[in-house]
Amino acid sequence: MGYKIISGNCLEIFRTKNVKDKIHLTFLDPPFNQGKEYSYHEDLMESEDYWKMMKEVCENSYYLTEEGGAIYFMQREKNTEAVLKCLRESKWSFQNLIIWKKKTSAVPGSYRYGKQFQVIAFATKGEMPRVFNKLRISPPMPANYKYERENGMYVTDVWDDIRELTSGYFAVNEALRDKNGERIHKQQSPIALLLRIILSSSKIGDTIFDPFAGTGTTLSAALQLQRNSIGIEIDPLNVACIKERLENISESDLLQKYYSDYIHTENLSEIWGDSFDEVTKRSSKPTLFGN
Ligand SMILES: C[S@@+](CC[C@H](N)C(=O)[O-])C[C@H]1O[C@@H](n2cnc3c(N)ncnc32)[C@H](O)[C@@H]1O
Repeated sequence: MGYKIISGNCLEIFRTKNVKDKIHLTFLDPPFNQGKEYSYHEDLMESEDYWKMMKEVCENSYYLTEEGGAIYFMQREKNTEAVLKCLRESKWSFQNLIIWKKKTSAVPGSYRYGKQFQVIAFATKGEMPRVFNKLRISPPMPANYKYERENGMYVTDVWDDIRELTSGYFAVNEALRDKNGERIHKQQSPIALLLRIILSSSKIGDTIFDPFAGTGTTLSAALQLQRNSIGIEIDPLNVACIKERLENISESDLLQKYYSDYIHTENLSEIWGDSFDEVTKRSSKPTLFGN
């Protein structure tokens, strides 16, 4: 069991065939081409070039994936059509469009509804997923609901129980910060999101791939769940951050606190595995590549 952090541009890494491992699950959280600040990426590309790049990433991920393996492609809701087209044209089979309704306030609109969700397209290599674990959660009952749930409910395609790490108050301790208290990465994904994706679509021992690894949220969740992982990241500062994050898993990164949220899942112990203390004893040292 281990993780591999590749420092460089994922397109170049693909073109030079520097990833040879077979993968089982990809989490794709690229820059959204909306003018955010990235040190090593221009986030306002011509739309055509941007989607050409996304297609190349999807095609390469598809090529590396075992039959039945999965991809979760996260994007702004306004890009839904382009995401589905991109996945279809790179041969992925569509399974679900997940609505991640963030627990934060909506972005107001003056002439349309405020925006409160992001999409995550879930697709597989071939029609049938090789693994799909039906997770059960126990969200609060709707008001005036007649019956108590005894065993929770299956996770649906609307995820409204995971808070994003905003730039303000709700970034909480999970948001990685430098010594001056500044956020290291404003687009850091919540680890609870990766927990759900990895638990749903992989088994212990599988390999999870993240070509836009950022701060390494995917790798941290994979490590704690006894999955192997490969992350590519273009910004050397982020690469250093991933390395440190994985070598010293912080209290706020620990997944064990979410275990009880999934307690009604039939095969939970089989897909979650041992507690993280056991994992740390067994985990291998990271491999750091240059480009
Ligand atoms: C939206 S962020 C990912 C955040 C990540 N999910 C996390 O939890 O930290 C996208 C990341 O992709 C990186 N990036 C941009 N272009 C890249 C490329 N061509 N190859 C690899 N990484 C790239 C950026 O530096 C940024 O860290």
